Amino acid sequence: MPRTIAVLGGTGPEGFGLALRWVRAGETVIIGSRDASRARETAAKIQTAVGSNARVSGDENRAACAAADILVLTIPFEGHCALLKQIKSAIRAGSIVIDTTVPLAASVGGRATRTLGIWEGSAAQQAAEIVPQGVSTVAAFHNTSADILNGDAPIDCDVVVCSDDAEASKTVRALAAKIPGVRAIDGGKLENARIVEQITALLIGLNIRHKGHAGIRITGLPPQAYR
Ligand SMILES: NC(=O)c1ccc[n+]([C@@H]2O[C@H](COP(=O)([O-])OP(=O)(O)OC[C@H]3O[C@@H](n4cnc5c(N)ncnc54)[C@H](OP(=O)(O)O)[C@@H]3O)[C@@H](O)[C@H]2O)c1
Repeated sequence: MPRTIAVLGGTGPEGFGLALRWVRAGETVIIGSRDASRARETAAKIQTAVGSNARVSGDENRAACAAADILVLTIPFEGHCALLKQIKSAIRAGSIVIDTTVPLAASVGGRATRTLGIWEGSAAQQAAEIVPQGVSTVAAFHNTSADILNGDAPIDCDVVVCSDDAEASKTVRALAAKIPGVRAIDGGKLENARIVEQITALLIGLNIRHKGHAGIRITGLPPQAYR
């Protein structure tokens, strides 16, 4: 079934990288931004990179949201709650919200190698409390490095997908698997997002220490777990 993915905050490196990979895979993507012209400029960059068959456009976040079935939050934690409240009434019934947000302490002037304690348990659980009823929240892509997503090479990283909606989790795992190199794993309930979000703070510390672009691989599971 044709579907449209809105990447909110897609002007930044993480959203741009995910959008680029999905447009390359043939998906239809709207880049969302607080500024429609910035969104259109970013969409044009993807169009140039992918070619004339690319199905990508840009719009202001709320308008992008109203035109999409799958919303991907790729904004820093400091804007998370406010953006969700701003777009809430524009989210279509039955949509999936994919939350990539890591609540880094850097959001409040602290270190990027530490996370904040979130009252609901995780940024993704905070999102789930804000979105309208009938909209599914899925936590994913916290551990995929923007630097690698923005290149051409396969991603040496597994994507752990957490949600309380099994069907939505399946849809997002299929979307993740469209990115070369990615293996998507059912990470269970949304409450597990707390753990996956925290792994990113560790990866950032490893990147600083060893000057790399660390990802994760989960080993030892049967092949059907990586679907
Ligand atoms: N960077 C990575 O490698 C990486 C990896 C995994 C997960 N993540 C997660 O992905 C998210 C995005 O990361 P990023 O590095 O791309 O972030 P970023 O560059 O700081 O921000 C992405 C975009 O969010 C928008 N934005 C910034 N502040 C905002 C606010 N207060 N309210 C609403 N929108 C705001 C901006 O777009 P406009 O100005 O155009 O609106 C910006 O281009 C973060 O939550 C991060 O934890 C990042």
